Amino acid sequence: MNTLRSSAWFDGDDEVALAHRVAVRMGGGEIEQGVRRPIVAVIDTSSDANPCNLPLRELAEHVRRGVTDAGGTAMVMPAMSLGEDLMKPSAMLYRNLLSMEVEELLRANPIDGVVLLTNCDKTTPGALMGAISADLPTIQIVGGNRPAPVFDGREIGTGTDLWREMDRYRSGEIDNAEWRRFEACYACGSGSCNTAGTASSMAMVVEALGFTLPGAATVQASQDPSRELSYQSGRRIIGMIEEALTPSRILTPASFRNAARILQSVGGSTNAVIHLAALAGRAGIVFGPSDVSAAGDGIPVIADVQPCGSGLMRELDRAGGVPSLVFELGDAIEAEPLTCTGHPLAASARAPLDDNLRTRAIRTLSDPVVGGPAIRSVSGTLAPGTAVLKAAASDPRLWKHRGPALVFHGYDEMRERTQDLDLDVTADHVLVLSGSGPVGVPGMPEWGMIPIPRRLLEEGVTDMVRISDARMSGTSFGTVFLHVSPEGAVGGPISLVRDGDMITVDVEAGILDLDVSAEELDRRRREWVAPVSQHVRGWPMLYQQHVEQADRGADLDFLTAREPGQRRRIEPVIGRS
Ligand code: FES
Repeated sequence: MNTLRSSAWFDGDDEVALAHRVAVRMGGGEIEQGVRRPIVAVIDTSSDANPCNLPLRELAEHVRRGVTDAGGTAMVMPAMSLGEDLMKPSAMLYRNLLSMEVEELLRANPIDGVVLLTNCDKTTPGALMGAISADLPTIQIVGGNRPAPVFDGREIGTGTDLWREMDRYRSGEIDNAEWRRFEACYACGSGSCNTAGTASSMAMVVEALGFTLPGAATVQASQDPSRELSYQSGRRIIGMIEEALTPSRILTPASFRNAARILQSVGGSTNAVIHLAALAGRAGIVFGPSDVSAAGDGIPVIADVQPCGSGLMRELDRAGGVPSLVFELGDAIEAEPLTCTGHPLAASARAPLDDNLRTRAIRTLSDPVVGGPAIRSVSGTLAPGTAVLKAAASDPRLWKHRGPALVFHGYDEMRERTQDLDLDVTADHVLVLSGSGPVGVPGMPEWGMIPIPRRLLEEGVTDMVRISDARMSGTSFGTVFLHVSPEGAVGGPISLVRDGDMITVDVEAGILDLDVSAEELDRRRREWVAPVSQHVRGWPMLYQQHVEQADRGADLDFLTAREPGQRRRIEPVIGRS
């Protein structure tokens, strides 16, 4: 049996060990001298400012019960909550900060294993990034997705239906009273977005990577299955500690390929591409946008969930969730990597129980919802790194397109000009937003779904080619090329685009080109002036100085483990007194 890391705090009979044990008991935990009792950190990211994560408060106690019943001691530790709705300029700015907080909480305390309680978009990857760096046995629980409100007899998908109603409101199709009525029904209880947005996409990615119990990614918020999975996760983490089943034993390049295949099969969020790169970076593995795209070869969208399909996460859960997706993907799921269960992901494969639901929510590879890959990477003179497109939620007629650029340089300008009925724009234009990448703003906000100009909306245009170095919500849709790297704020070619420049996109060929001569681009580059940051202190300054580009996961350069030896191992204990 392996030695517990926490024994460095608690073993012994001196005054220091005594004080350590007393501190645990004062927090409500059990610990006795000479008795082996693993200490489990239960990292709780719930907050009143983050309705998506509110179900976690209750789940923490179910985890504690599971840990205790399995012979451990649980210590619930709050960590910062990254609420997608309220944090500005973007919760993404703080993902890496949460990862550092988790890593340091684990490092500084007598922890043998960790249960991560997360839900909203950035808490799930942020907390796991920190745990991977800490490399202690880790299991993750998501709070589940929220119920669906009903508007005019129709169930409302979070985000996806909001964007659709917004376009109807902007085009005058619905009036202010209707828009207010929509607002009144949009609030529908706590939990994550009920579509395959970033939160659910990341939950499924995390399950596929091996960090949740089978079926945990798609649970409904505040329901019994979610409570039971929390209890069982509390029990299982003790087993993982006994088995020394750490993230470094779980994660291999095949784990990331499996996760990318699950992501592609549900037509998941483009944000997951960035988070996969960041999670891989913490594990010393390179896994960028082109790897996600390549992993999707031969994988169509088989989950009929918005925004690529028509249903909600609830139906996907009832049809069997990730284990049923694994079943349908069959040999495409690689058998080698372990999961938190101690078995490979493929061992969780489970045929959908109800054929009627299965037909509706999970299709087969031969009868998909949309052809794949759902997420594709492109590159070229406009994106020498890469850019990504959620092809499954875009108009294939625009996949091969050449048109003149119309450039916006910031959010307010973009919102103002797209509302201008006199804007000189046609449906053939390519809308470009620069300056909104990781360093820009900073934090890479979800501004990438550039609104269709109002005058075109009123003409009935519903999609056009849009390009930016920003992200977009996982619930969004359209022919939107995102995450262009290098970004505008560091002088990437997107910062050199001028109105009227011709831009070529060819999704099948993987091309995103700015059709301007090299000489002219050199001339513009010499004239380019780097934007002056407004941030001269604190986290935003540190972030801007160290954040990497989107194709590398937008992690901080001093937190990744790209070279052998950069991977951090948490020391048993630093300074005992
Ligand atoms: Fe939190 Fe969608 S806004 S999960």
